[in-house]
Formats: sequence, C-alpha cells, structure tokens
Amino acid sequence: MKNGIIFDNVSFAHKNGLFQLENINLYIPRGIFCGITGINGSGKTTLTLLINGLIPHQIRGTLKGNVYLDNVNTKEKPVSYFAKSVGMIFQNPDFMLFNLTVKEEIEFGLKNLKLNNHNLRIKEALKIINLSGYENRDPQTLSFGQKQKICLAAVLAQDSDYIVLDEPTAMLDYQSTVDLYKLLKSLNQQGKTIIVVEHDTDFLNEYTDQTIVLNQGRIALKGKTKAVLSETKKLEQIGIKIPRLEL
Ligand SMILES: Nc1ncnc2c1ncn2[C@@H]1O[C@H](COP(=O)(O)OP(=O)(O)O)[C@@H](O)[C@H]1O
Ligand SMILES: [Mg+2]
Repeated sequence: MKNGIIFDNVSFAHKNGLFQLENINLYIPRGIFCGITGINGSGKTTLTLLINGLIPHQIRGTLKGNVYLDNVNTKEKPVSYFAKSVGMIFQNPDFMLFNLTVKEEIEFGLKNLKLNNHNLRIKEALKIINLSGYENRDPQTLSFGQKQKICLAAVLAQDSDYIVLDEPTAMLDYQSTVDLYKLLKSLNQQGKTIIVVEHDTDFLNEYTDQTIVLNQGRIALKGKTKAVLSETKKLEQIGIKIPRLEL
C-alpha cells in the first residue's frame, strides 16, 4: 500500500446521532497541502477525527471500512500510536490549553511522547510562529490567534509529519489568515503534510494542491483544487462560496 492517508470505503454514524459519513474513499498522499470544505454539519470535523484514530477509539459510534495512516490501520493501534505523526489543531484552542505557561503547554506533549531536547524544541517552535520569548506567558492571557499559534507550536515542537487544522481561520482577521497560510505553505514545502478545514475557497484556491468537498456526509467533489473549484455550479448548489477569478 501507499504512504499517506487512505479512507477505504469508510462510513461512520455518531452514537445517538442520525448523522453519518457515507462511503468515503480518499487518498491523501504524504507531502500534500489538502483542503477540506463543506457547509456546517457536512461532516468535516468528523472526517478529521478519523485520521488519527480519535474515531473509533475515543468517539463512539458505528464505523465501517478502514482508515490507514502510512499503512497502519487506525483501528488496530491506540490513539497514542498516532500522536507523534499527526498533530491536530482543533477549532477551539481553549480545549487544548490547560497549563500555566506556554512552555509547560508545549512540553506536555513532548513529555507524553518521551521526546528529548525540550528547551530547544520549544524555542525553535516559538520562533517559527513568531512568538519567541513567550515561554513563561500564561496562555489564558493571549489573544485567540496567539492561543491557536501555541497549539501549532506544540505540534511543530513534536515534529509531526501530518498537521491537521480544523477551521483555523474562522476567528482570524484577514492579515492573520494570510500569515497563517503562508506559514502552512512553508511548512508544506519543508515536507509536512497539511490538511486544513476551510470555508474560504479563495484561500484553498491560492494555497492548496487538493480539495475535498463534503456534502451531507458524502464526498461531493475531490481532486486537484483548481479542478474542484472550477465546478462552480455544483459548489453553488451545495452552498459553498465560489472563489474569485484570478486577476
Ligand atoms: N459527538 C457527536 N455525537 C453525535 N452526533 C454528532 C457528534 N459530533 C457531530 N455530530 C453530528 O454530526 C454532524 C456533522 O458534524 P461535524 O463533523 O462536526 O460537521 P462540520 O465539521 O462539517 O460542521 C453534526 O451536524 C452533528 O449532528
Ligand atoms: Mg467542524
């Protein structure tokens, strides 16, 4: 099998919920910059939770089919097995920040993964996100965007191969969004696989290689971003913003 993320005919129904992802077949190669879009409730977050085994190991429901991460079936290993390779940045950073200082926050993951060189890793990660010297700050005193960056720094410090971000720009202003995408692009060019859930198709158009469009739990479109986003009729039917034409 191929390296990367494979969804092999995956269906998932949340426990007690009517919602299900249905017949998801995907191949997300290593090293790619991949966007996921779709209206609220279309299943984007559920899809991301399948990548590192949070579904089915921590979130209950009925799962059919298989998800493979670099040829390992996520059903067959605990979530901890995928923790180093997949860094998840959830939509709300407050759910992830619970330590007293930025340093402890980032170090928490490093300790769990039994990695060494903590101080150097933390320093370099903070430098990349432009928050050098923030080690001793209380995360709760930072802005939303800065909190999100700390979550990203935690993922960078552990040097994850895959970085999954769930609507990271939903609460960011335009310039912060541009800055984040530029950073993600440069991480991608350094070999990281980036998967980003995004409503703004202009950013997908500009930065991503591939795009997946979800609609009511199914894949409506997938493939090269330019090709997917040129299906304007279909996007409009689904309720997705049509990207501006390139000038
Ligand atoms: N833990 C859960 N239990 C039951 N149903 C859920 C749960 N999480 C999400 N859902 C259902 O799945 C649907 C899709 O959710 P989600 O994947 O979060 O969509 P999106 O991220 O595209 O907005 C939601 O409308 C909700 O009804
Ligand atoms: Mg979501």
